[in-house]
Amino acid sequence: MSQDEEKRKAARAAMRYVEPGMVVGVGTGSTVAHFIDALAERRHEIAGAVSSSEWSTNRLKGHGIEVLDLNVAGDLPLYVDGADECDGNRCLIKGGGAALTREKIVAAASKKFVCVIDASKRVDVLGTFPLPIEVIPMARSYVARELVKRGGTPVWRDGVVTDNGNWILDVHRLRIAQPVEMERDLNQIAGVVSVGLFAARRADVVLIGDREMA
Ligand code: 5RP
Repeated sequence: MSQDEEKRKAARAAMRYVEPGMVVGVGTGSTVAHFIDALAERRHEIAGAVSSSEWSTNRLKGHGIEVLDLNVAGDLPLYVDGADECDGNRCLIKGGGAALTREKIVAAASKKFVCVIDASKRVDVLGTFPLPIEVIPMARSYVARELVKRGGTPVWRDGVVTDNGNWILDVHRLRIAQPVEMERDLNQIAGVVSVGLFAARRADVVLIGDREMA
């Protein structure tokens, strides 16, 4: 099975968590694109979606799905999103698509986080995929120096501006054996908007293709 077919299967499997009348939190990325396409087939059943990026908003609206403001929607029953890496405890690296901050907000506001991935994303220890960190532009080099002190090699994702008007540092050479502690530590660096480690609020369910991770 191709990687894209596995992503499509996972996205379609996530539809079993969608119930009539729900406002559904929607992530960002190529796996979520399949989820949005599947959601569109049941758009008359749901009350709408809360989106984690401008990209997803456009795709949702293009399918005729109403996109609601999180401030109006309140807490959500369900959030469906992909990931760049997933460890055995359902901790994730996210942000390959630079949408990590809004993804983190919607995940935090959701009762159940269903993560949809293909098998290549499943790792024993997080960190082979460079960890994305969204930073306030003026803090870029300060944050980068702090990351070097912690053993990382930050690389500025030059030319990328997030939906929030900020920049991304991709941190290479981290071995993230203790994701909760590292997330907490990195969150404290002045100028960091958010860290692409989803450990404190990790996934509740991980679907690898159509199989649920034990
Ligand atoms: C975007 C993300 C995505 O969920 C992550 O990059 C996975 O993307 P894809 O489904 O295209 O492999 O975190 O910020």
